[in-house]
Amino acid sequence: MNDDWRPQVAASILTADFGHLDRVVHKLERAGVDRLHLDVMDGHFVPNLTFGADICAAFRRLTRLPLDIHLMIDEPSRWVDRFLDAKPQTVTFHVEAPEPDAAKRDALERIRERGAGAGLAVSPGTPISELYAYADALDVVMVMTVEPGFGGQRFIAAAAPKMATAAEWFRAHGRTIAVHVDGGVNRDTAQIAGAWAADVCVVGSALFQRGQDAADEVRTVKALTADGRLRGPAALEASRPAAAAATARA
Ligand code: DX5
Ligand code: ZN
Repeated sequence: MNDDWRPQVAASILTADFGHLDRVVHKLERAGVDRLHLDVMDGHFVPNLTFGADICAAFRRLTRLPLDIHLMIDEPSRWVDRFLDAKPQTVTFHVEAPEPDAAKRDALERIRERGAGAGLAVSPGTPISELYAYADALDVVMVMTVEPGFGGQRFIAAAAPKMATAAEWFRAHGRTIAVHVDGGVNRDTAQIAGAWAADVCVVGSALFQRGQDAADEVRTVKALTADGRLRGPAALEASRPAAAAATARA
């Protein structure tokens, strides 16, 4: 971790009011989010459908925030170029996608050729070692702490240590990656995410609670992630009530 390291919050708009996306984006900008996280689902890879490349491009026109496109689709290599047209900062798809390894590698290379960061995501049950074969092609490792498909689920704390395993493995192999944690991150779970080396917290439903101040949630998540990072996993033992409560809720 270098001296200017700061955790970032990427806002997932999955549970936002889709009737007013311009208002949603401006509210998130005012709340201090660092990036927008766009969840693309195809109804095959996950049992839910969201939106495609044209909506991602619309977000590009609405904001200057960096866009992270999270593809939960069966055929990332078929579609990735369309999503790159939206000029995202990163595109991440799932290592579990049912495509040959060579197709996945080709998709990662095309993402980089177009100037974006290339990422792979792992669902909670997938070992992080599944990513190692793609190490030289990766800029982002996204660890899912819920089963992909829906916002508003509970954080699966048992998946979080995979972030530290990835961060250490990539460092040991001389590679720089950003670790994103996705699913169930909020003020109750951010310290756990930080302790296990998250660089970017994806926060969705916690930013869209009625009557709750999104800016306060963003500030608190960042502060708790940084605190967790500073103190390491041992802090989770020390503050057992908070960590245990989050695990119990998970
Ligand atoms: C789940 C998505 C996540 C999720 C984040 O499949 O990838 O981005 O919606 O939302 P919360 O924070 O509500 O889990
Ligand atoms: Zn996501």
